Amino acid sequence: MKRQKPAKEPQAQGSLPEQTRGASESLSAGTSRRSLLARFGLGATLLALAGQAYAFLRSLVPNVLYEQPQKFKVGTPSQFGEGAKFFEQQRVFVFRERDTFFAISAVCTHLGCTVKMERLNQAKRVKTQGRDFEEQVEFHCPCHGSKYYGDGTNYFGPAPKPLAYFKLEVAPDDGQLMVDMTARVSQDFRLTV
Ligand code: FES
Repeated sequence: MKRQKPAKEPQAQGSLPEQTRGASESLSAGTSRRSLLARFGLGATLLALAGQAYAFLRSLVPNVLYEQPQKFKVGTPSQFGEGAKFFEQQRVFVFRERDTFFAISAVCTHLGCTVKMERLNQAKRVKTQGRDFEEQVEFHCPCHGSKYYGDGTNYFGPAPKPLAYFKLEVAPDDGQLMVDMTARVSQDFRLTV
């Protein structure tokens, strides 16, 4: 007698076939791996961009901010002859008149160009703000033509006010003259040595 093959067991209703379930699991694992990788990629890109932005901004700021010292020594009185000595970096004239000294700024009061000292061919009698003196030099600005008398008083061009005078003192440690650009003084200021 021929034995009958047992009928295939019916599949439980509602459950996916084994193969389909496996495929779906590996698909979802693949998707989450891809999304993780995408997030890593995005994070790395953002980090790289942030790094570049920082490097760019940092390059705009110099490593060392160099500011001209506002107080500086210019030498001992004996190193000065009669007349003016110009200190180009600081843009200051230091004058000696016999045993007195004073310092005048070379910064034009119009827009800050450096004025030039012009030696006059002939001494000139000048009256400024009640002062009466004989000048040997004047200051002229090459930028817009302002002119200043020998005492720094503006008399021509767009400069709105006289050149500044700075305090001068003798350094206690070595006897050098020291200009203090933080201290403005009047045109009458004289340091007697
Ligand atoms: S800056 Fe000197 S006249 Fe303008």
